[in-house]
Amino acid sequence: MIVFSVVGARPEFIQAAPVSAALKGQCREVLVHTGQHYDDEMSKTFFRDLELPEPDLFLGVGSGTQSEQTARVLERTERAILDTHPNVMLLRSDTNSTLGAALAAAKLGLPIIKVEAGCRSFDRSMPEEINRVVADHVASALLCSTANCQTNLESEGISGPIEVVGDVLLDSIETNLSRAEQRSDVLTRHGLAGNYVLATIHRAGNTDDPARLAQIIKGLRASPLPVIFPMHPRTAKMIEPLEIAVTDPVQTIGPVSYLDMLVLTRHATAVVTDSGGIQREAYMMGRPCITVRPNTEWIETIAAGWNILVQADAGRIAEAIQTFRPTGARPPVFGDGHAGRRVADFVMQWGSQRGLVPSAATA
Ligand code: UD1
Repeated sequence: MIVFSVVGARPEFIQAAPVSAALKGQCREVLVHTGQHYDDEMSKTFFRDLELPEPDLFLGVGSGTQSEQTARVLERTERAILDTHPNVMLLRSDTNSTLGAALAAAKLGLPIIKVEAGCRSFDRSMPEEINRVVADHVASALLCSTANCQTNLESEGISGPIEVVGDVLLDSIETNLSRAEQRSDVLTRHGLAGNYVLATIHRAGNTDDPARLAQIIKGLRASPLPVIFPMHPRTAKMIEPLEIAVTDPVQTIGPVSYLDMLVLTRHATAVVTDSGGIQREAYMMGRPCITVRPNTEWIETIAAGWNILVQADAGRIAEAIQTFRPTGARPPVFGDGHAGRRVADFVMQWGSQRGLVPSAATA
């Protein structure tokens, strides 16, 4: 069986690794990198840190507007599918790569197994929400990180098989955290000896509005604790023309490797972010998360009291940094750290039901 597995942006490399490891030796996975993220620090270091195999195909789509990027992924993925004759597409996340690849597969009648299905912000102004809704609706089978994601899909009338497998991000943490603690010198490298705040901001809704971005920087500057701010290229580009300087106590650095990010998150007094992945990782590692967004897909983290939503308002962000210190229980809403194996089992069973793999392979 040939599994056409698509990655394109930073979070997708992290999500792919546990599944690739679990599929190894059972089928042929053709790993296709769309090239949406292309800088070494946004792409190559992740393959190295996560021990992901080199991509079999690199589509080189690069940057562009939402439509340009999606269109390039669509066109180049169609060509790659026609060249490789896969039996199924394995798709994840909610990026423009996800959307383009989903459309290419659907138009060619290639079945899609979608991982991280059903996550919803119910905010159609986010490009990611459009991407995930469309991709989920053209998928043949949907694998969810949480029970709430399954409920979302059912309420949209999706009838394909839906299963809750848990969150592959937890697998990745369990596999890599102790290695990260041993190998990464990120804390000493940046002089982070005591308490500090980790900040990451990159969503278009925050970066593309200068007034919002300025409020966020102001809020971080008012932090009583040092703030380490690994900067996504989008954010760096949008901050440059702002009149507000990013000064003490905020230390900006370039994008960091996955292992460095694990260590930075694990030891942070609090995390300020607009990333869906980092909200979940903060919860999994027991760090308070302050989410600078009007909504979140990961409502379980809010319900447990470990994540709060704040507006892009300097005063509110600064106040949350000072006061938000949850201590309650963290129910295991993201599963048990074996999501990758469950995804692989599902894929192999899917293949076996269609006579694509010898039945022993799924035993
Ligand atoms: C994308 C995803 C988002 C995901 C995020 C993770 C979409 C719509 N958004 O957002 O869901 O959370 O990735 O990081 O797909 N750039 C570089 N170097 C790179 C990659 C990008 O300089 O290696 C620049 C691009 O030129 C562009 C900007 O960063 O101007 C944004 O990149 P893009 O791929 O459009 O989306 P992200 O904001 O990264």
